[in-house]
Amino acid sequence: MSHFNRVVRVPGDPILGLMEAYRGDPNPAKLDLGVGVYKDAQGLTPIPRAVKLAEQRLVDGQTSKSYIGGHGDALFCARLAQLVLGADNPLLDARAAASQTPGGTGALRLAADFIGHCLPGRGIWLSDPTWPIHESIFAAAGLPVSHYPYVGADNRLDIEGMLAALAEIPRGDVVLLHACCHNPTGFDLGPRDWKRVLEVVKARELLPLIDFAYQGFGDGLEQDAWAVRLFAAELPELLITSSCSKNFGLYRERTGALLVCAATPEKLLDVRSQLAFLARNLWSTPPAHGAAVVASILDDAELKSLWSSELDGMRQRVASLRAGLVEALQPYGLAERFAHIGVQRGMFSYTGLSPQQVQRLRDEFSVYMVGSGRANVAGLDAERLDELAAAIAAVCR
Ligand code: LMR
Repeated sequence: MSHFNRVVRVPGDPILGLMEAYRGDPNPAKLDLGVGVYKDAQGLTPIPRAVKLAEQRLVDGQTSKSYIGGHGDALFCARLAQLVLGADNPLLDARAAASQTPGGTGALRLAADFIGHCLPGRGIWLSDPTWPIHESIFAAAGLPVSHYPYVGADNRLDIEGMLAALAEIPRGDVVLLHACCHNPTGFDLGPRDWKRVLEVVKARELLPLIDFAYQGFGDGLEQDAWAVRLFAAELPELLITSSCSKNFGLYRERTGALLVCAATPEKLLDVRSQLAFLARNLWSTPPAHGAAVVASILDDAELKSLWSSELDGMRQRVASLRAGLVEALQPYGLAERFAHIGVQRGMFSYTGLSPQQVQRLRDEFSVYMVGSGRANVAGLDAERLDELAAAIAAVCR
């Protein structure tokens, strides 16, 4: 008898699979616009200097590799909660706290398990489109997954469609919102949109889960947190998932957190007891290194200022690549068609290219992007924008 006879093969992850396909492509002119990692002018995903300095201090000063607690590194949790909610946010006295998780993905999975375990029967509503892994994480936790419109077939933000759909969501359900740098589209809500969403959330008594994976990559560390802080101030209860992968360049160190805002200090303790219980079944205790690095940076004025200026540099580079690509498309008469690339925020652009055009870019020009037409603008090479524009023009003809 074979135990594995009935195991069927499933397709590989569409985003991580692109990384492998790109690595295997012998074309020296290949271009990787797939997975969301930042690249510098040399085409490298750098370790920020602030991270290197913090790591050096850790190597010299660390005295133990014993477990850290169920909620992770207490200093990391305190400093990250301040970064997300604002250093002087009164909620931090007793009504809000962070639990460290393995990356933002771990935070999402912990939130999913929390909802499934402690709020049974609640469904989750995701933007259409969203990061594909949102779909599978919540489904894996047994939650009914539904969608609200976000970007229409015309590749524009559909705020009216979104609001109309949110107004129909069953009372008490969970709505996942992207704080900034929407993945995959790059289209963000403006302040007026956020206020309108907040009104519907209040009227329908929805529980928002705000995914905050790109703090600092949109308009700045403080600016990107605006909507999160608005929701935290206006609502008694809120879940926030935070990632340090992109803004600290700590991708492989799996560093993130799930933040909870509760109506009372007592309720916060109840919720956190459940999170520790659920996390114990998922990963026991979180990995220490990345969180220790972030804690040393955020707890040291000099390192924090170095890190924040390095992050400013990354954001500005991505903004100039966006503008540069639109300009490079000008000679082909395509600048207007692709003007949205300059308006979108963060690493990604929903280019509006069809799956067939994406496939041609890959087959004919070794340009790799996700089949949905999502391009990682942060992976562009400023010296090769003309080349890319020519390739896009060729597949758009
Ligand atoms: C992406 O969307 O490319 C990133 O968030 C990386 C990932 O894990 O998918």
